[in-house]
Amino acid sequence: MSTQAPKRYSPLWVTLHWVIALLVFVTFYLGLSTIDISLTEKVGILRWHMPLGITVLVLMLVRFIVRWRTPHPEPVTVGNAFLDKIGEWTHYLLYIFAILMPLTGLMLSVTYNLPPVVFGGEGSLPRDLSPMLHGLVYPIFAALILLHILAALYHQFIRKDNLLARMWYGK
Ligand code: HEM
Ligand code: HEM
Repeated sequence: MSTQAPKRYSPLWVTLHWVIALLVFVTFYLGLSTIDISLTEKVGILRWHMPLGITVLVLMLVRFIVRWRTPHPEPVTVGNAFLDKIGEWTHYLLYIFAILMPLTGLMLSVTYNLPPVVFGGEGSLPRDLSPMLHGLVYPIFAALILLHILAALYHQFIRKDNLLARMWYGK
């Protein structure tokens, strides 16, 4: 019995992709807004930034499990083995960094014991709060997302292969 690869990703997968993408954008925006502001203002932003970031982590883990259990379309080819490899690796790296980003955030939260301050209103944020690994990982994650979006636009408008339809609902 031969099982043919589907033409598009499953509806659950598509939903996870777009919900996670939206959450990543909002969490990123909030994270960047914490730079160069007072510690009091920072607490208000972190109250949203931290739970949203943890939601990204949980959904990425669900997606990772779905990834290996659901049939998915054949990798797309642009007719150049090197570019195809870059596409494949960008996807792997997006998984890794979308998980590393919240994990390094959680490390910050544990190191500085932030939950009582952020969610319990106890005391104030430490003056020496510094983003550590979280601050090193985000530029790489941002570059990968940018590359990914540029690739999607290249497929859609230059190659005109309607790749976006694979990551949308339909038969
Ligand atoms: C998709 C997930 C996440 C993204 C994209 C993200 C992004 C960012 C960015 C861009 C910053 C600014 C870094 C800087 O000051 O140089 C930041 C700051 C911060 N993030 Fe996240 N973050 C995520 C998840 C989390 C999680 C899960 C937590 C904790 C539970 C967290 C805790 C923090 C804290 C405490 C800061 C402030 C650091 C400081 O002011 O020194 N983040 N985040
Ligand atoms: C406007 C933003 C985005 C656009 C236009 C977009 C577009 C797409 C498209 C068209 C595909 C299907 C590629 C194929 O069929 O081979 C795809 C797959 C993928 N996207 Fe995005 N994407 C966006 C944001 C993101 C973000 C923020 C992430 C990071 C978590 C992400 C992670 C992935 C991954 C890992 C895949 C590979 C398929 C999978 O394993 O789920 N995307 N994206």
